[in-house]
Amino acid sequence: MPGAIYAEGLVKAFGAVRALDGVDLDVPEGTVLGMLGPNGAGKTTAVRVLTTLLQPDRGKAVVAGIDVLAHPDKVRRSIGLSGQFAAVDEYLTGRENLTMVGRLYQMSGRDAKRRATELLERFHLGDAADRTAKTYSGGMRRRLDLAAALVVSPPVMFMDEPTTGLDPRNRQELWDVIQELVAGGTTLLLTTQYLEEADRLAHDICVVDHGKVIARGTADQLKARTGGERVEVVVHDPDHLTVADEVLRGFGKGEGTVDAHIRKLTVPVTGGAKLLAEVIRELDLRGVEIDDIGLRRPTLDDVFLSLTGHHAEDAEGDGAGDGSAGRTDPGGGAVGRHKRGRKGAGTAGAEAGVTNDREGVK
Ligand SMILES: Nc1ncnc2c1ncn2[C@@H]1O[C@H](COP(=O)(O)OP(=O)(O)O)[C@@H](O)[C@H]1O
Ligand SMILES: [Mg+2]
Repeated sequence: MPGAIYAEGLVKAFGAVRALDGVDLDVPEGTVLGMLGPNGAGKTTAVRVLTTLLQPDRGKAVVAGIDVLAHPDKVRRSIGLSGQFAAVDEYLTGRENLTMVGRLYQMSGRDAKRRATELLERFHLGDAADRTAKTYSGGMRRRLDLAAALVVSPPVMFMDEPTTGLDPRNRQELWDVIQELVAGGTTLLLTTQYLEEADRLAHDICVVDHGKVIARGTADQLKARTGGERVEVVVHDPDHLTVADEVLRGFGKGEGTVDAHIRKLTVPVTGGAKLLAEVIRELDLRGVEIDDIGLRRPTLDDVFLSLTGHHAEDAEGDGAGDGSAGRTDPGGGAVGRHKRGRKGAGTAGAEAGVTNDREGVK
């Protein structure tokens, strides 16, 4: 039996761009699928198709047991949607926004108000309930947006990059709320550019790139595909990056990365703690002063690198000039780094930093 969210062979082209290029999905009821991919991968397009906002050119989609193309109205009544294009009216107060959604879903005035109050409390917006949404901070707005999607307790929810651009505290808060929601049995498809977010919230992860699912599995399964742990070194002096790079290459079992702006080098290794000691000795011998060194398990970004041969990067320069190159992900791993070595199509200098999704596609 297909899951609560099911898709088969979804294709959607915008001119020459195949935003979706044959996407299959199957999300069992009560689970969370994390759709992980860089800007321009096709995540929002997938969400728009599954939530009836966009007709696919080809393929089939079934949500909450209802055929999306045949019965879009019924689907809309069974889902909640929050994210990049959700509608918070900034001239209404938080309370008015939520009450309005309830009324739209045919709740009585009294029920709508009660539900609004409940949600405002749950999302820590009680104090701000009677201020217009335009006075809200980014984090408060996201919470209101999420609350709006939950007014009718939908069995299936979609969240499109719910925490993009939020500071770590707000992100953490939103994660807590999402986890609570999921514990209540909601089926959720969540898109994200944050590796740690998918790892943290999703039961299963599918990695998308250029409209295709390029990998799927649990976070652990995906991590296993990159083959083992990493040594990560932060050098004290940026001038030592080159020497440290040479040393690490000597120990590495594959291609490493250099994040010059945070003086960090990473390389996959085998050999564990013993090897770590050797690396430290060798760095010391070569006069490289280190601020930090450690072993870590591969991250999902490493998975992306090993699957595609490049870091999660912007499609066709979307969001370039956004000025946020060098953003770090919530796990503290940097994106926007340079690739080491000569493999892959792009030269190191051409590797674009991942920027926040500004939905620069309209
Ligand atoms: N309405 C549109 N018109 C033209 N191109 C679009 C439109 N929506 C998306 N695209 C293109 O489709 C691709 C996927 O976009 P999108 O689904 O927004 O990716 P993501 O949400 O993963 O960043 C991108 O190349 C984007 O430029
Ligand atoms: Mg998007």
